[in-house]
Amino acid sequence: MDKLLITGGHRLQGDIRISGAKNAALPILCAGLLSAEDVTLHNVPSLQDVNTMLKLLRQMGLQVTQENGVTVLNGAQIDKLEAPYDLVKTMRASILVLGPLLARFGEAKVSLPGGCAIGSRPVDQHIKGLQAMGAEITIEAGYIHAKAKRLKGARIVTDMITVTGTENLLMAATLAEGETVLENAAREPEVTDLANLLVAMGAKIEGIGTDRLVIQGVTALHGASHAVIADRIETATFLCAVAATGGDITLTHTRSDILDVALDKLREAGVILTTGPDWIRAQMSSRPKAVGFRTTEYPGFPTDMQAQFMALNCIAQGTSRVTETIFENRFMHVQEMNRLGAKIEIDGHTAIVNGVDKLLGAPVMATDLRASASLVIAAMVAEGETLIDRIYHLDRGYDRMEVKLSAVGAQIQRIK
Ligand code: EPU
Repeated sequence: MDKLLITGGHRLQGDIRISGAKNAALPILCAGLLSAEDVTLHNVPSLQDVNTMLKLLRQMGLQVTQENGVTVLNGAQIDKLEAPYDLVKTMRASILVLGPLLARFGEAKVSLPGGCAIGSRPVDQHIKGLQAMGAEITIEAGYIHAKAKRLKGARIVTDMITVTGTENLLMAATLAEGETVLENAAREPEVTDLANLLVAMGAKIEGIGTDRLVIQGVTALHGASHAVIADRIETATFLCAVAATGGDITLTHTRSDILDVALDKLREAGVILTTGPDWIRAQMSSRPKAVGFRTTEYPGFPTDMQAQFMALNCIAQGTSRVTETIFENRFMHVQEMNRLGAKIEIDGHTAIVNGVDKLLGAPVMATDLRASASLVIAAMVAEGETLIDRIYHLDRGYDRMEVKLSAVGAQIQRIK
């Protein structure tokens, strides 16, 4: 298992190119199942989760070619309508094949994802929505079996806002008969990016970017070409890193308009930010100020940035309250940060972070993707060496993070 060895105390200086968004790329790859024609994708990030998704889609018969940074999908020969447990258990986003398979082929068998490190994460809303569209769904031996001659449009109000739930139902609705209305839809930029691709493929969708998506089903979708949106979480992770270490970095191929709340919090922490149409420059020359926040759905503060901001708060001036409202168990990084000398207490869904003058390097363990990123940031400010174990979590969702950070001055080395 790979580890990262990080020596803290180095300021960051230089440019970093941001990759395509993991959480846009995963549903977008599944959208390849919806058409028999070529879907050509640019800016697909190189990540373990993308590899896992491509492995799953190839098993189903999707043709995939990857050349010169361009990924071409062709769904003319899909012959296996199944997502097996051994892949779904490693990546919950595999559930995103359910809507497309059912909509185009009238049948799907997808393993139920189990619990995961950050919460129980059921998929009941995906199932409820597809049932409302006329699917017959049974759960047997750990698998969701779904059948429908042709899905029928319906008005669906999900109990809570769900990102992949919205994406699954949106994809299903594009090929359903008649009109589907998705109320309480997730407004995350990644949902919008998927919707934009679907429209390019011939889907009829109104209300993109809002919490009410109205879809008129069509009988077939055609091919299209699309560039995956920039990864706002990767962007904000590097911004937190420079806020913690100090320095001056410019992130390119990214967007500031989908990061409003995170950028406001960074300014509050003392970072000087300047932005252009596709870049963000961050300058930091002082100790950060503590910033409190509460995670919520987009456009609120993203749960996927909670851990990285917590790393910043560990060494900030002052005390902050960080409340997690999306997942019930997303504080696994707290114990590890305390091992580095942080002073964090947990009170239910809130962490109270008392900023300390310095952290001290120690061996720590990554528990999930964003927790890993937060430990990288903490290690970059800690005195001495920090060895982060179980770095495969980081590789699932960050495109060569240690290479990008080394190039701007971090001392960070992968140990095989
Ligand atoms: N929920 C249910 N039932 C459902 C669906 C969701 O109870 O049928 C609950 C979840 O348990 C959770 C809340 O609703 O408490 C929101 O979950 P959501 O469905 O929005 O999460 P997700 O779609 O499984 C995506 C991202 C996550 C990100 C969340 C929230 C992808 C592939 N994953 O997950 O990304 O944290 O939205 O923004 O898009 C990450 O990248 O590190 C990551 C975990």
